[in-house]
Amino acid sequence: MSKIITFANRKGGSGKTTIVVNLAASLASLNKKVLVVDLDPQCHASYISGVNTYERKMGMGAVLKKQCTISEIICKTEVKNFDIAPLYQKEFGSSISFNIESHKTILDQLKSEYDYILIDTPPSIEEIHKFAMAISTDVMIPMLMHFLAMEGMAQLTRFIFEITKQHNPDLKLSAIIPISYNRQTNHEQMILKEIERVFGTEILKNKIRSDIKVAEASWNKQPLIVYNPKAPAIKDFTLLAKDIIANK
Ligand SMILES: Nc1ncnc2c1ncn2[C@@H]1O[C@H](COP(=O)(O)OP(=O)(O)OP(=O)(O)O)[C@@H](O)[C@H]1O
Ligand SMILES: [Mg+2]
Repeated sequence: MSKIITFANRKGGSGKTTIVVNLAASLASLNKKVLVVDLDPQCHASYISGVNTYERKMGMGAVLKKQCTISEIICKTEVKNFDIAPLYQKEFGSSISFNIESHKTILDQLKSEYDYILIDTPPSIEEIHKFAMAISTDVMIPMLMHFLAMEGMAQLTRFIFEITKQHNPDLKLSAIIPISYNRQTNHEQMILKEIERVFGTEILKNKIRSDIKVAEASWNKQPLIVYNPKAPAIKDFTLLAKDIIANK
């Protein structure tokens, strides 16, 4: 059975998509079969995984409208073992509704095929977060080390708690991942201490350093491991992948 991990943070630009794509590539390079599911109407995960999101094709929008099954829309990426269920531009019209109960089984046919299914979510659409968390085993929160990001965290954890009560009692908040972490600043240290005080130390095992090669790789529509396997942040994505495998 797959581990299904939703990456969520309502703050825009907190590193969700970057983690999803690079973690997928790192897990795949460790011989795990990985599927990324793009549920963000911005289509960034599809775009940086090499999908032409401007093509008029059926993607996750069509799956949610029940026009096809998820198996029919899955594409391979240039990384072996890393597939994507893409989303194409304009697929998410206002007509898409997230009836959680009727859509809850969309991943069922894939659970024996993939070791990990990673779901990318948009910054703001609550219905999408609800749905993604209802079908996941885990939630991970990438977070910039800034006090305003800490503000949003309390709201998000309350939201996760509500999902566990209403839709998915097995859902687990398994990691908060500091992004672009720079251990030298006092401000970042203070925020880390506050997270540890509220959530305990276990939740903060992995951090992703700031590395301009990460942004360059996305610009080039490639995971970092393909674009520059010697880039410093590769170590962080690999450690995160190994940690997730060890905790399966
Ligand atoms: N570790 C890193 N080092 C340097 N740049 C990074 C790192 N992680 C992410 N970035 C850059 O930060 C920006 C925001 O990242 P990303 O798009 O992954 O955030 P997001 O949370 O998915 O945004 P949105 O909420 O809009 O979906 C991107 O330009 C990305 O390349
Ligand atoms: Mg994103």
